[in-house]
Amino acid sequence: MLVCPRRNAMRCVTIAFAATLGLLPTSPDRDNTPDINFPVNAKRQFDSLLAAMPKKLYIETVGCQMNMLDSEMVVAILRKKGYELTDDVQAADTILFNTCSVREHAEEKTYSALGRLREHKKKHPEKVIGVLGCMAQKDQHSIFSRAPYVDIVVGPGQLQQIPDLIEQSRSTGKQLTALSMGRKDGPLEQIKRSHETFDPLRDPTMRPTPFQAYLRIQIGCDKFCTYCIVPMTRGPEQGRAPSEILAEAKVLAGQGCKEITLVGQTVNSYRYEAGDTTTRLTDLLYMLHAVDGIERLKFITNYPKDMTDDLLAAVRDLPKCSTYLHVPAQSGSNDVLKRMKRGYTVEDYRDMMRRIKETIPDAAVSSDFIVGFCGETDEEFQLTADLLTECRFKNSFVFKYSERPGTKASEHLPDDVPHEVKQWRNNELLRLQAIISEEDNQLFLGRTVNVLVEGPSKMAIKKTPDAEVLQLTGRTMCDRIVVFEGTRRQVGQTLPITIYEITPYTLIGTVLTEHRVGTLLGIGS
Ligand code: 5AD
Ligand code: SF4
Repeated sequence: MLVCPRRNAMRCVTIAFAATLGLLPTSPDRDNTPDINFPVNAKRQFDSLLAAMPKKLYIETVGCQMNMLDSEMVVAILRKKGYELTDDVQAADTILFNTCSVREHAEEKTYSALGRLREHKKKHPEKVIGVLGCMAQKDQHSIFSRAPYVDIVVGPGQLQQIPDLIEQSRSTGKQLTALSMGRKDGPLEQIKRSHETFDPLRDPTMRPTPFQAYLRIQIGCDKFCTYCIVPMTRGPEQGRAPSEILAEAKVLAGQGCKEITLVGQTVNSYRYEAGDTTTRLTDLLYMLHAVDGIERLKFITNYPKDMTDDLLAAVRDLPKCSTYLHVPAQSGSNDVLKRMKRGYTVEDYRDMMRRIKETIPDAAVSSDFIVGFCGETDEEFQLTADLLTECRFKNSFVFKYSERPGTKASEHLPDDVPHEVKQWRNNELLRLQAIISEEDNQLFLGRTVNVLVEGPSKMAIKKTPDAEVLQLTGRTMCDRIVVFEGTRRQVGQTLPITIYEITPYTLIGTVLTEHRVGTLLGIGS
């Protein structure tokens, strides 16, 4: 999905979290426990010492920002139980995969990673291997058939059970599952409860940067697009209580977080009812805008039909609101949108774009597109290409349709577009998007933008990690990536950067030094 792996909905990324191994640098790996005949007492002492040692956790996360957030919570809860992170899978006592089911490719990646552990688990049966997240909820017990050495399978709504499951599985050697109810498995309220997550626990060290955080305001999805597995794996759409959201935002701000991204599958459909009061995303934005310390508010991912005028007005009127809106169109053909059951027409989408531009003239909009959806003709694809060109998105995430068992499309519509055609259409949309992105980025040449500095760029991490002056990366208020030369002290600051070069995906600039700030017009983009 995209150019920028960290930001938008459902982008496939794999992260292995690095460890800081603590007190016991050469903690006896249980795998290497010396084979010596201890006297009984000494053996007991050794065992209790072993039990008191920090256990090592390896966790790999694939998928969207929801999964990243879930992993943050899982690490937080396990840290409380004495776990330490390691980035060495072989050294870990517990190995967890937080998985994604949106496309087959993401699942195959997880099964391959599991396959690589087969021999390891044979040699070290005491290690616990867990599959978490959407694939766990979707495949359930069949994961044990495909990878019989997996110990625990935990759906995204049951993650709070992980510490117990790990301990039980380790002590009994049994395979265990914790899964939420299916969409038709009982009364709605019961199903909803079974999908609830446990957000208050945070582990700031798990965030990509200390001054940026995701904050979940909604779980699940009720849109049931015919291609999508999410309503089945994440359950019914539920808004989180505004008081909890506000409390969490304050905690985050207290920890030094400057940018909060509110997340939900269809974040702008958020609603929470209590008595006679209904709280919507617009209300939340006003509420969170008042939190001291928070400098930027973003929200992803939006559903086109719920992009209401009051929400757009809030983005316009609240200076902390990012002017970046991710609103997936998926297709530019009304017939395809109908087959996808997206609930809007291309005309509705165009009208939404018009309202966005009218209300927030400098808004940057990005989109997701699926190419090669069931029965997509050349003409239908051309309509998508036309929409992409007309809307001039900041960027587009393009996906080849991947049939997902359990969805309406997989039951009723043949996956009949050949792979080569999907690939060609995918490349074509990306080619068109790159032209637009480059043209639009050119408008930034010579302009000064405010950039929240995130850290060393990928290139700097690879090539000059220890340099005093190194390439840093950050984002503008409209989510454009900017790179420039700076020092580590600038990480976390919001700096004026003047742009002197561009690519389709990046603005390249230089820090506007103080004596020049007064003389140049800053463009708050
Ligand atoms: N095949 C391909 N892409 C999909 N998406 C969701 N389901 C599928 C699927 N079965 C894409 C949509 C969505 C993004 C997160 O993933 O474009 O917006
Ligand atoms: Fe999936 Fe559609 Fe819900 Fe997005 S809105 S999560 S594509 S069902």
